[in-house]
Amino acid sequence: MIHAKNVSYTYPDGNKALADVCIDISEGSTVAVVGANGAGKSTLLALLVGIFPAKIGEIEMAGIPVKKDKLEDIRRKVGFVFQNPDDQLFMASVYDDIAFGPRNFGCSANEIKEMTEHAIETMKIEHLKNRAPQKLSGGEKRNVAIAAVLAMNPEVLLFDEPSSFLDPKSRRNFIHAMAELGHTKLIATHDLDLVLDLCERVIILKKGEVYADGKPMELFRDQELMEAAGLEIPLSLQNRT
Ligand SMILES: Nc1ncnc2c1ncn2[C@@H]1O[C@H](COP(=O)(O)OP(=O)(O)O)[C@@H](O)[C@H]1O
Ligand SMILES: [Mg+2]
Repeated sequence: MIHAKNVSYTYPDGNKALADVCIDISEGSTVAVVGANGAGKSTLLALLVGIFPAKIGEIEMAGIPVKKDKLEDIRRKVGFVFQNPDDQLFMASVYDDIAFGPRNFGCSANEIKEMTEHAIETMKIEHLKNRAPQKLSGGEKRNVAIAAVLAMNPEVLLFDEPSSFLDPKSRRNFIHAMAELGHTKLIATHDLDLVLDLCERVIILKKGEVYADGKPMELFRDQELMEAAGLEIPLSLQNRT
């Protein structure tokens, strides 16, 4: 479902963000991308959905090559939750923001209502539905942004730091909701405990390269590897001999 081969990316200002990244993720798996600040997580996700063009290497999502003339198809199949919810919410009400995707896809009025309400229920944001997204707290915005993507029912879900801004209860709800979804998911995060709870596999980026790829429980226990990658062993795995 997610296929990246020898992908490199340099920003227009000459900043090299990704070097020769290869990733293959099969249908239905939940995979994390972790790495220190600046490791290239957000750049990788942006390339996977075609926000930046991958000039070097090839990318395919849900069987579609990520190329300029295919971006419309990619939008339908791949949902992307931005690092900053403000980049994603722009309608006058929360309900309209969540209904925006289904409406855009030309669904019937009934389908739009059903998809929108289902996403609202999943993210437990019934009480926010008539509010203005711009006036919500960071965590509330995050939940709305996630609902807006879920409403489109994409085949692949990409999340950039989904648990930032979320309080413990919303974070828990997010983990439960994701655990129940059979979709292919790629989650860029600093929240290693979330990775342990939710992901069967983790890709560790270091300075734009894939530094390690494996089972979270195994990689996160490896002190040397974690230090070299600029990461800390999650609290839940510390002090255990
Ligand atoms: N718009 C940009 N222009 C130039 N360099 C950028 C831009 N965005 C990110 N970078 C650089 O690319 C590298 C990877 O950044 P990013 O993908 O945001 O990392 P992460 O999400 O892992 O923190 C960093 O060195 C960062 O400074
Ligand atoms: Mg980032």
